[in-house]
Amino acid sequence: MSRKIGVIGSGHVGSTVAHYIVSAGFADELVMIDTNEAKVVADAVDLRDAMPNLPFHTNITVNDYSALKDADVVISAMGKVSLQSSKSSDRFAELPFTSAQVKDVAEQLKTSGFNGVLVDISNPCDVITSFYQQYTGLPKNQVIGTGTLLDSARMLREVSEELNVDPKSVHGYNLGEHGNSQFTAWSTVTVFDQPITELAAEKGLDLAAMDDGARKGGFQVFSGKQYTNYGVATAAVRLANAVLSNSMTVMPVSNYQADLDVYLSYPAVIGRKGVVKRVALDLTQEEQAKLQKSADFIKSNVKKYS
Ligand code: 2OP
Repeated sequence: MSRKIGVIGSGHVGSTVAHYIVSAGFADELVMIDTNEAKVVADAVDLRDAMPNLPFHTNITVNDYSALKDADVVISAMGKVSLQSSKSSDRFAELPFTSAQVKDVAEQLKTSGFNGVLVDISNPCDVITSFYQQYTGLPKNQVIGTGTLLDSARMLREVSEELNVDPKSVHGYNLGEHGNSQFTAWSTVTVFDQPITELAAEKGLDLAAMDDGARKGGFQVFSGKQYTNYGVATAAVRLANAVLSNSMTVMPVSNYQADLDVYLSYPAVIGRKGVVKRVALDLTQEEQAKLQKSADFIKSNVKKYS
């Protein structure tokens, strides 16, 4: 079965997503779309130039929405660098640009007959993911934002650096908004399968500083290069791969929460049709209150900008 992925937006993030997909052989067909025709054509030619030296082949189509009809996954990576850098500690700075674009992209996706899984990277992630679902009319389980899959990775990095362990030996989640109201749910975090709350007491770890480090991780990168790309592109491609291979992997991604009536990040099982199942966490009361606060914040912004 042929694997087809679409990438909307060929800026820093979209082109990194496309490069990762092509260089790792994750798709047989890649559809690249951008309003800047010259840029997306150039990226496609550049990627085709990589093909002779790669052990995989990917057919690349450019700026043809109709080719997305039978795509398994479409990744939305549009954004504006100038807006990102102008107010780099707030992802909402991108909202005027992305919310205008999202209507247009959603309309074109609808016209194409696309019925796969839509993965949104575009910021503010939870709000834009919600708009995508509204405008495309796709079932809620088929519209997912990368959300705090990235912030969780940043938290795993913080913890792993503090304790000098492989980040893959640390497990746990950042929850809520992919933005300033997110938080690390320390009750879910383990290191070598030991609860970090125990380790923190033993070793005097500063959990609040690590939580802050994860939340501000993106801005640290922004301040150096005015965009972020590798971390988020890797998260998006991992999510796309879970869909393509029907892997049933648990991931903290932005998905619709019926009880809170909002899109936010909470662990969900990801398979061929997107969100297959929500995982129930045993959060502390304090964490539950933080989640509710984050939900309220996202909800008020969805309302405000709808
Ligand atoms: C990040 O946190 C851009 O929101 C993205 O890296």
